[in-house]
Amino acid sequence: MTQQPVKTVVFPVAGRGTRFLPATKASPKEMLPVVDKPLIQYAVEEALAAGADTMVFITGSSKRAIEDHFDTNSELEAVLQAQNKQDLLDSVRGILPSWASCVYIRQPAPLGLGHAVLCARPVVGSAPFMVHLADDLIDSPVACLKQMADVYATYGRSVLGVEHVPAQDTDRYGIVSVEAGVAPRISKMSHIVEKPKPDKAPSTLAVVGRYLLSASIFDDLAKIGKGAGGEIQLTDGIARLMQREAVYAYEFVGKRYDCGTKLGYLQATVEFGLKHPQLGAAFNSYLKAFSANL
Ligand code: UTP
Repeated sequence: MTQQPVKTVVFPVAGRGTRFLPATKASPKEMLPVVDKPLIQYAVEEALAAGADTMVFITGSSKRAIEDHFDTNSELEAVLQAQNKQDLLDSVRGILPSWASCVYIRQPAPLGLGHAVLCARPVVGSAPFMVHLADDLIDSPVACLKQMADVYATYGRSVLGVEHVPAQDTDRYGIVSVEAGVAPRISKMSHIVEKPKPDKAPSTLAVVGRYLLSASIFDDLAKIGKGAGGEIQLTDGIARLMQREAVYAYEFVGKRYDCGTKLGYLQATVEFGLKHPQLGAAFNSYLKAFSANL
């Protein structure tokens, strides 16, 4: 079975980002930089690598910086041009290719991830779409969304990106249980539950911030009420979707950094710094000298 390519990615960026206060008081969590690019730029690059051309941002208050980041800044470009700083000019001009478009939809209040995704319905329509949570930064040889798009192209089912997490952390994630595997790394899901306590969790297989969903989930999201934490949960919508359609769990290849937490964000900063083409060697020397003095 070969499917039409999935072209639309939804980026819910309307959360409050409370775990990063005060940094996120007036500026979005998704604009936190890892070395020299904000999290949301890594997210859009991953979507482009998966073949997407329509980026739908679900925004809230204090999120203007995201729109500005993907917009042209003629004044800045003119200054860089006049100073003959071609590399920097390329880096600001190349953020978004001309064939990709951005759509911004305001979520009236942060009622939950499920509600944020439902806000994308007028743009997504009836085609399958992807959801990307920028605070889960995934470093992988093949972009995680591309891996998932390939699974969809073969099986034509909704796909969730999953990985095993420590047993004590299940109450931070949607946790799935699966039936026998369909192929290496791919299984049909039998159950999903949001943030179960470790003693109630059906497994340690956690949903991370990557989803490829059938548009029929919008009917489910429109019907569910508040779930865990008093929020409209995407997990609860997926549980309803599973009553009608098979949903697959895919154990992606790559390393995830939970940049929604300070520790995960620092880990990403260090490891992306070490891999940075211009900074890596100098940063490596610095870290060695620093750790020798600890
Ligand atoms: P999180 O719960 O991780 O993010 O939501 P948060 O609310 O921004 O951060 P904390 O927990 O207060 O520190 C996961 C993703 O869903 C988005 C967030 O922006 C984040 O990318 N989200 C969440 C929305 O867009 N709308 C919501 O109502 C809730």
